[in-house]
Amino acid sequence: MRIHIYDTTLRDGEQTPGVHFGVTQKLDIARRLAKTGVDVIEAGFPASSPGDREAVRAVSEASGRGELGDTVVSALARMIPADIDAAADAVSPAKRKRLHIFIATSDIHLENKLRITRDECLERIRACTAYGRELGAFDEIEFSAEDATRSDFDFLCEAVRTAVEEGAGIVNVPDTVGYTTPAEFQEILIRLRGRVPGGWRMSVHCHNDLGMATANSLAAAECGAEQIECTVNGLGERAGNAAMEEIVMALKVRRDAIRCDGDELTCGIVTREITETSRLVASLSGVPVQPNKAVVGQNAFAHASGIHQHGVMAARGTYEIMNPEDLGLNANTIVLGKLSGRHAFADRVAQMGYSLDTAGIDATFARFKEIADKKSVLTDDDLRAIVGEYLDSLEGKYYLDTFQIQSGNHIRAMALVSLSAKDPSDPAKEPEVITEAAPGEGPVDAAFNAVNRIAGADGGRVELVSYGITAVTEGTDALGEARVKITDTASGTTYTGRGVSTDVIKASIKAYLGAINKWERMKR
Ligand code: KIV
Ligand code: ZN
Repeated sequence: MRIHIYDTTLRDGEQTPGVHFGVTQKLDIARRLAKTGVDVIEAGFPASSPGDREAVRAVSEASGRGELGDTVVSALARMIPADIDAAADAVSPAKRKRLHIFIATSDIHLENKLRITRDECLERIRACTAYGRELGAFDEIEFSAEDATRSDFDFLCEAVRTAVEEGAGIVNVPDTVGYTTPAEFQEILIRLRGRVPGGWRMSVHCHNDLGMATANSLAAAECGAEQIECTVNGLGERAGNAAMEEIVMALKVRRDAIRCDGDELTCGIVTREITETSRLVASLSGVPVQPNKAVVGQNAFAHASGIHQHGVMAARGTYEIMNPEDLGLNANTIVLGKLSGRHAFADRVAQMGYSLDTAGIDATFARFKEIADKKSVLTDDDLRAIVGEYLDSLEGKYYLDTFQIQSGNHIRAMALVSLSAKDPSDPAKEPEVITEAAPGEGPVDAAFNAVNRIAGADGGRVELVSYGITAVTEGTDALGEARVKITDTASGTTYTGRGVSTDVIKASIKAYLGAINKWERMKR
């Protein structure tokens, strides 16, 4: 049986706190997903914002131009005609278009969130599925019963029957809050299939709140689910969604054990593309992959203990169940350095999946040269960090001009920071240089406080939620990548930023500025 991989990195993945994909970023990821072989790309939720509508349209246009092969483009909509209209408009240029309409079916959601009765819910399903079908704007309709696994089973069956009768060809059974277990999920799915007749395709969408998203998705495939919804690196709301790379590699490595009615389960993913795709998504989302993450984590193929190292050297299979080459690891060994030209740099960045315009290449190449002067060779990871920092700085109001730090074990740290501030309403105007000094608990804290004063983010308006710095590669000349997450204390919205430099304080200030610029833009 062929499993269809429905990738929702651009929709549910974007619901990860602090993650926002712009149009270009969605396009870059969509092209990479198509190259990786996903069957469906859920490009977004067009009614959620004009920006997302534009992004879904851009992905659909890429599909219309043939850049995404036969991959279906899907758009999410609530059971509201205006949402369905927005989805229809946004996917219209795509080669193959899917409407994904959803409504919650559990009593807890109906009573507290939607405040409607079960009958009203069924009526919305009937009317909106029919509306979507009659519009004639979609090749297929998928219905999702949100919080299906906590819904009354008889009502879930009625909801699904109604959607199928009105033209939904795919029925998605989401475990919205990551609550079910593999055995319980199988029972729900088998009984549902038995109760609702028709040739509908069964899909599942599992969240990872209890760490069971992958296991639940595979259990579903074993009992006939033909579509699995997932995200790259397991991005998504709260604890995230089922991770695409885990599902695909489990199907491949354990094809002897994970079967449906004795049949092998296959999918169309080109596993050699997985690592590159994972790294692009980590870079564009700003969410790094945890080192011990299954399949794509930095340590997934690292053997630390002597016994393990000995075993792997004697026979790889002693401790490795996957071949790193199958995941595209070590596929590229090109390193760039001080003498590399603009052309080689631009080529490599494009191969890694980023589409930068001339100004983007100019800016990142200048940073590359600056860093290559201090560091002999730059790897792909260094390039990703440089491009990530550039993308975070786009359309920002503030840029680092100069900084001076005074710190020591007997004095309070003090920072003097100068930022160039552009006038957002008049980009042609010469930026103004603003300088502020501030004390802090250490050099980084002092520098952030000085930035807050300049950007009007002082007085508790923003709070630092997390700050971390890692070496991108090894060695004392390693590039330091700082990552910062801040919250707007009034709205609770989070903003992230990245900065890279061989100087960790400079990397930290740049990362903080990346986040502050997003906060400032949102305020504006
Ligand atoms: O988790 C969920 O229920 C969803 C639906 C919109 C499918 O994301
Ligand atoms: Zn979800």
